[in-house]
Amino acid sequence: MHENIAAVPGPLLDWYAVNKRTLPWRGIGDPYQVLVSEIMLQQTRVAAVIPYYLRWMESLPSVEALAEVPEERLMKLWQGLGYYSRARNLHRAALMVMEEYGGQFPQSHRELLRLPGVGDYTAGAVASIAFGQAVPAVDGNVLRVAARLTGSEEDILDPAVRRRFREEMAAVIPADRPGEFNQALMDLGAMVCLPNGAPVCGHCPLEALCAANRLGLQNVLPVRRKKAPRRTEELTVYLLLRDGRMAVRRRAETGLLAGLWEFPHVAGTLDDGQAGTPLSFWNLRAREWRKKLTAKHVFTHVEWRMTGYLLEAEGEGSGLTWVSRKELAELAVPSAFAKFLEEACRVLEKEAMQ
Ligand code: ADE
Repeated sequence: MHENIAAVPGPLLDWYAVNKRTLPWRGIGDPYQVLVSEIMLQQTRVAAVIPYYLRWMESLPSVEALAEVPEERLMKLWQGLGYYSRARNLHRAALMVMEEYGGQFPQSHRELLRLPGVGDYTAGAVASIAFGQAVPAVDGNVLRVAARLTGSEEDILDPAVRRRFREEMAAVIPADRPGEFNQALMDLGAMVCLPNGAPVCGHCPLEALCAANRLGLQNVLPVRRKKAPRRTEELTVYLLLRDGRMAVRRRAETGLLAGLWEFPHVAGTLDDGQAGTPLSFWNLRAREWRKKLTAKHVFTHVEWRMTGYLLEAEGEGSGLTWVSRKELAELAVPSAFAKFLEEACRVLEKEAMQ
């Protein structure tokens, strides 16, 4: 046990009592609310999550409500948050709670881990915050705090290093306030022990303990090994307008953005002279080319560079679904297509007015 970690709980909890953030999922202790918030927060910042969380709870206030909701509605509620498998996993988790646990969440870390989409961190967060179990919830923020506090130059992406920090946190977590302890670490990571070399050590309750602060290594720690570079994919996207409706299609049930709606597209960037060629895939012909747009979207492992063509088309439109402005607004279209979606909605609105 590192002595700096052993000394954390007292000053950290005193600091938290005064400085904790007021967040809509705090202070209720309902496992459903904790689970939804933690899953949303897995890859998304607090400020971005809040409106989604509030909207979600208004529509789906209980695990029963979530278990019964059609997937399309769910995807719509999630639209814009990204990493859509999280929404699907939440749905499957709700079904499991209803079917295998009679609607009552399991309370132990081990059983919570059985729920789809729930890993070690999320199981720890739910067990500690909703059920008062003394288990840690160690995410990237907590690893950053731990690496700085102990002056560790080890790679925090290394599973063995993560496991050791997790065990050290488990050994010091106060049995009477585990949820507060874990959330205090999260708040410290989010408000004080900031990433990218900008911690505000002067406001840190752990400043006197912190090895990185003493050695001037705040800007160097934590160490992460280099990630594989992101690959780039080019796409040509078609905003096809026919009789006041726009063409969309559903993505495959597996893979990136599975099951969401998108505008038809082909791989590669075509020059303007070739851009009409793929229309024959859908048994369409161009009547009038109206606009060219470009957009970019960055995912974790891939970046899309997109060229979009807005055009009026005629013909069969095989494999495509033709939707009105209102129908388009009801579909879950991923943020990658946000710019094209906006343009499509604007054009359909104008068409409807004529
Ligand atoms: N980040 C992840 N979970 C959190 C929580 N419960 N409170 C604040 N920030 C968080």
